[in-house]
Amino acid sequence: MKISIASSDKFQERHIAPTNEEIQNMLSEIGVDTVETLIDQTIPKKIRLKRPLQLPDAKSEADFLRDLKKIAGKNKIYKSFIGLGYHDTIVPGVIQRNILENPGWYTAYTPYQAEIAQGRLEALINFQTVVSELTAMDLANASLLDEGTAAGEAMSMLYASRPRSKKAANKFFVDEKVYKQTLEVLHTRAIPVGIDLVIAPLSTLDMADPHLFGVMVQYPNADGEVGDYEELIVNAKDQEVFTAFATDLLSLALLKPPGEMGADVVVGTSQRFGVPMGFGGPHAAFFATRESFKRQIPGRIIGISVDQDGKKAYRMALQTREQHIKREKATSNICTAQVLLAVMAGMYAVYHGPEGLKRIASKVHGLAVLAARELEKLGFKQINKGFFDTIKIEIDEVQKEKVRAFALSKKMNFRYEENHILLTFDEAKNKEDVKAIYEVFSKSTHTLKMTEPSLADMSVETRIPAGLLRKSDFLQHEVFRHFHSEHEMLRYLKRLENKDLSLVHSMISLGSCTMKLNATTEMIPVTWPEFSQLHPYAPQDQAAGYYEMFQELRNWLSEITGFADTSLQPNSGAQGEYSGLMVIRAYHHDRGDQHRNIVLIPSSAHGTNPASAVMAGMKVVIVPCDDKGNIDFGALKDKAEAHKDHLAALMVTYPSTHGVFEEAIQDICQLIHDCGGQVYMDGANMNAQVGLTSPGMIGADVCHLNLHKTFCIPHGGGGPGMGPICVAEHLVPFLPGNPFVKTGGKSAIPAISAAPFGSASILPISYGYIAMMGEEGLSNATKTAILNTNYIKAKLEPHYPILYTGSRGRAAHEMILDCRGFKEVKIEVEDIAKRLMDYGFHAPTVSFPVAGTLMIEPTESESKTELDRFCAAMIAIREEIREIEEGKADKGSNVLKNAPHTASKVVADKWEFPYSREKAAYPLPFVKENKFWPSVSRIDAAYGDRNLVCSCIPTEAYEEEKVIM
Ligand SMILES: Cc1ncc(COP(=O)(O)O)c(C=O)c1O
Repeated sequence: MKISIASSDKFQERHIAPTNEEIQNMLSEIGVDTVETLIDQTIPKKIRLKRPLQLPDAKSEADFLRDLKKIAGKNKIYKSFIGLGYHDTIVPGVIQRNILENPGWYTAYTPYQAEIAQGRLEALINFQTVVSELTAMDLANASLLDEGTAAGEAMSMLYASRPRSKKAANKFFVDEKVYKQTLEVLHTRAIPVGIDLVIAPLSTLDMADPHLFGVMVQYPNADGEVGDYEELIVNAKDQEVFTAFATDLLSLALLKPPGEMGADVVVGTSQRFGVPMGFGGPHAAFFATRESFKRQIPGRIIGISVDQDGKKAYRMALQTREQHIKREKATSNICTAQVLLAVMAGMYAVYHGPEGLKRIASKVHGLAVLAARELEKLGFKQINKGFFDTIKIEIDEVQKEKVRAFALSKKMNFRYEENHILLTFDEAKNKEDVKAIYEVFSKSTHTLKMTEPSLADMSVETRIPAGLLRKSDFLQHEVFRHFHSEHEMLRYLKRLENKDLSLVHSMISLGSCTMKLNATTEMIPVTWPEFSQLHPYAPQDQAAGYYEMFQELRNWLSEITGFADTSLQPNSGAQGEYSGLMVIRAYHHDRGDQHRNIVLIPSSAHGTNPASAVMAGMKVVIVPCDDKGNIDFGALKDKAEAHKDHLAALMVTYPSTHGVFEEAIQDICQLIHDCGGQVYMDGANMNAQVGLTSPGMIGADVCHLNLHKTFCIPHGGGGPGMGPICVAEHLVPFLPGNPFVKTGGKSAIPAISAAPFGSASILPISYGYIAMMGEEGLSNATKTAILNTNYIKAKLEPHYPILYTGSRGRAAHEMILDCRGFKEVKIEVEDIAKRLMDYGFHAPTVSFPVAGTLMIEPTESESKTELDRFCAAMIAIREEIREIEEGKADKGSNVLKNAPHTASKVVADKWEFPYSREKAAYPLPFVKENKFWPSVSRIDAAYGDRNLVCSCIPTEAYEEEKVIM
């Protein structure tokens, strides 16, 4: 008998959950014979791919890890003294293992369903408190994408908030000593919206210039110098000019915070709070501002409210002002941010506490002082008068090259500028490193003063100017004082994790969000030092492994989308939209079509589409949809032709956000091209296309991919994500560049993100997914996503109206349940969402793209058993609504209106509801076996907005409650 030695372990069988037998059962429920027939009935024949994707054979999980380790081994981990906003940091093991590497944290969704997200909401309140207290600002948001884009958001917010006296002012002055990558991102952001960006030495600033609306400085600046900006701020206030600071959070443990000087906005990155450099990301940027800007602040803010029982509860505050609602009126397109990393940074502060942070900051500063002292002793001139972690050494060009060569031989990266070397210190460095620097400088420059460095003394004199030393306390709340032992910290993290429902509990069928499996094997490489410990501006030859992976991933994504090339720079879907539109803009400008600035957007589009278009300097024209959910072709034609001379692009999501493969898509693309426009395809629904059709095939010119949807990067509770853009040949020259690293096309638009490859260290996840699935696995995933959706549709159709299907009655990868009819008995879609929590499920997407509906997307990773449990819950809820319709249950007090039911409510001595405790908490038998208890009951949203509190409540309030939540 012959036996096979081929690997028996196929990853696609782990990723795609339904077995062959289950698939047969599901098909018969749907009423088709084969999966192929179902797909033929779903995707229009004329857009099906004519050949299979050209991808390498699928690897087993073990082979993938082995091969990727080899590639990773080509990255060289040198000690980085480069700085520029990226620092080596010591990730506390308890945080790495229990947050970064823990699916209980990383598979959660954005905390819209606050009752089952109290853990990460509390963690984010911690983050906001850390930021607002260290910066001494009134409030902070719960993260932005990176420091460069946070600076861009600051500029946009201040521009939109100009006082009446400055309504015509459009000049934003930025000190040339702001980080270069930030300057570049500001440049990208300023041009299309008509802001006159002036980058110049601060000495040339004319505060009385009537055109000036804002000034930005870096504190400490890119050279490391700590400047005193108090007078500048006083002058700015006199002239009604806003001031924005880019700053280093750790330095503020020692430095006078910008808030105490009177700054209007403070931005920066929290990377060095225990988040690995990861060759550029992901890291959480922060944005802090004054109370008066609370309604303009971009991104999400977590606030404190109360639940139905009067208990303190966290929620996302001011949700209705999110860009989803503001659409073309938005000044920001921020949706996915960097929640997981914000959680880590907040927890780093919790673990170290205020004293620990001061110790770390002092050590970092002390090392810089020590290095300055020793190099000065060697005869070098250190330029910075006051500094925190960075020193600037004067050196001639010949000596500089010798230092560079010698430093490289010692595996050290310094920052080299004309006639200068800059050295930045961090908590991972020590006295031995100062000694090594001393040796490099002394040996490579043959200085005459070859003495042993005097490093025995453990204390040094600070070089922070006396007037700029921090005097105020920070982080005095209980939470930052209590969890400093590992056991306490471990249990705190677990306690918060247990409050949150994530993919470790049950399916999260969020339409448009694609909560598929984030396989452990895909996640493992993220924390390998070869990927996590590289500085984004390390010499290119030290990142050969990264470049090899990037190139392969770009090739694969281009093949999958049917396009010529891919940029890995945008670090969210919305940033992808913005990049794609900026590329289209550059293409039109290159052809002399500067006047093309109209973007057509269907009414069903995600709110980020119009918001991104506005940021790209375009005018939005909305196109209606017909009663089948398709773009109204007639209306589109009219609008495209009416704007023919100014048409820049159409933004279209495919399959549509209504879950339908519109049959006219190729005609739509042709129409736009005939009118001189480009077609931007929002790739959020790419998981319904991979291997079966493609944006290129359909006729689009550019698309973004949400790697955190289709390509398995976990949602992290609201980020990180990645939104690479893939483009047709004629757009390749315009792909985005970077000021330090050669990326992008030959006529590259300036940088979109601070780092050249966005959040590089999470790219191994998508790389692994494609490598392990191969062509067959990827196409099977797409087919199964469509199968699973149509199965749910078949099961729920007798109970709920389904909005929109294709011409042959099929849904695509997601579908919409219409819940508007239940309003007659006062049941809102939110009531169903909250009741699902009692059954152990997260709600599908609520009220997008149609108000009063639920959009369900099961993905291919859910088994028939899980789909059946979900359908059973939905059907049982329908019966609960019927009881109200039939007068058997009370309209005002019923299981839906009072949902979710907490354990404390159910076991309370007093039970005043007209239904049983059992019905409230264990509505179906399977719930009893594995009950998830929401930690708070229904949260009062309006109360939270009226009484906005966005940082940890004072210690006295904890005393009142006698517990630490
Ligand atoms: C259709 C669609 N487009 C764009 C986006 C924005 O993507 P991101 O959140 O990554 O910025 C989303 C996010 O949910 C989406 O569903």
